[in-house]
Amino acid sequence: MKKKYICADWVLVCDDEFTIVENGAIVFDDKIIDVDSCLKLKTKYPNCTFEYLGKNSVLMPGLINAHVHLEFSANKTTLVYGNFVQWLFSVIKHREELVNKVSKELLDQKLDDMLQSGVTTIGAISSYGFELESCISTALNVVYFNEILGSKADMVDTLFADFQQRLDISLSYKKDNFIPAIAIHSAYSTHPFLIREVLKIAKKHNMPVSAHFMESQAENDWLNYSKGEFEQFFQDMLGQSVALTTPIDFLKQFEGLDKLSFTHCTKANKQELQQIKNLNATIIHCPNSNRLLNNDRLNLNFLDDIALSIGTDGLSSNYTLKIFDEIKDGFFMHYDIDTKQLAKKLLLSATNGGAKALGLQKGILKKDYDADIISFKIDDSGVIDSLPVAIILQDTKPTHIFIKGKDEINK
Ligand code: BEZ
Ligand code: FE2
Repeated sequence: MKKKYICADWVLVCDDEFTIVENGAIVFDDKIIDVDSCLKLKTKYPNCTFEYLGKNSVLMPGLINAHVHLEFSANKTTLVYGNFVQWLFSVIKHREELVNKVSKELLDQKLDDMLQSGVTTIGAISSYGFELESCISTALNVVYFNEILGSKADMVDTLFADFQQRLDISLSYKKDNFIPAIAIHSAYSTHPFLIREVLKIAKKHNMPVSAHFMESQAENDWLNYSKGEFEQFFQDMLGQSVALTTPIDFLKQFEGLDKLSFTHCTKANKQELQQIKNLNATIIHCPNSNRLLNNDRLNLNFLDDIALSIGTDGLSSNYTLKIFDEIKDGFFMHYDIDTKQLAKKLLLSATNGGAKALGLQKGILKKDYDADIISFKIDDSGVIDSLPVAIILQDTKPTHIFIKGKDEINK
């Protein structure tokens, strides 16, 4: 691939230190080759022509939506918001009707909307495999999480066989920008036998793994005490009166996996967060979904140094799949955190943190990392100190998007 040489007023490296290079430049092919000041790189590559993206231009890594359920993209007002258990009940009631409404055209449109908004990578949670075709043909990078779900003992063989089939099909399409992976729906909804068997497969193939964890008060009460709002739900729906596992035993099963993420964790306690940290797992934060289902806000102050990423969840519990929207909403939700610190944290969660969650060498503008890069203009020239907040507040429309160095959008 021909090398590209690009300069912008600001380069957001998105490393842990949140380095911003003023009058910066990037040299890349499918990987990042060099990032430094424009002046230095022009001296280092004297015979090369650098394209300057113009006044107030910004370059940063492409955004990563680490957790999205595309199959529920047809939902607008079908599902019940405001209470987690009632929402889940409405999902179970309407899932067939909702997923049957999702056409390939709609899925392609949602993927393209994400791309146009600066998302270059997604962690797609697949319950049925209906979005497979769209995920194979998109320009986006897709980590495709085949999900296992089901708590009834007499169903495990059937459910495992169905999972195995979906996994095998996804593996047959594995390529550079389509990476098959495994998702466990949750500790309360998935039989321990299924968890054990699918994690064996994940370990054998070193696959990314993800699970919803401690999303609601109901989940916490059920897993710890076999009580609370889930009590009736499990009794009526599944004839179960005790939880199948505890949070501690559930998390223990993930030892030995190194591309691991847990979504939500809003109700995770100190010990569970410590376990997540010891697993070197990443937490995927979905602020809009938590809000709409009246779950708690994730307490970002208690995460210590657990890696943080961000996702939209599906349109089953959101109005948007665009990460700049999600960041903006999260920015206003976490009103107790200093604006500058929070802006940096959220931008890092959508880049550096997302890549860690999905096990990808992306999300930082750093030598040998994938050249997934977006550029846009900020509304006025600003000052370096207020740049992260300014990027979040404006309605950002990328003018250039590169995925592994390839020009996907050039306006
Ligand atoms: C089940 O299929 O066993 C299940 C589904 C949703 C929530 C809990 C259990
Ligand atoms: Fe989810």
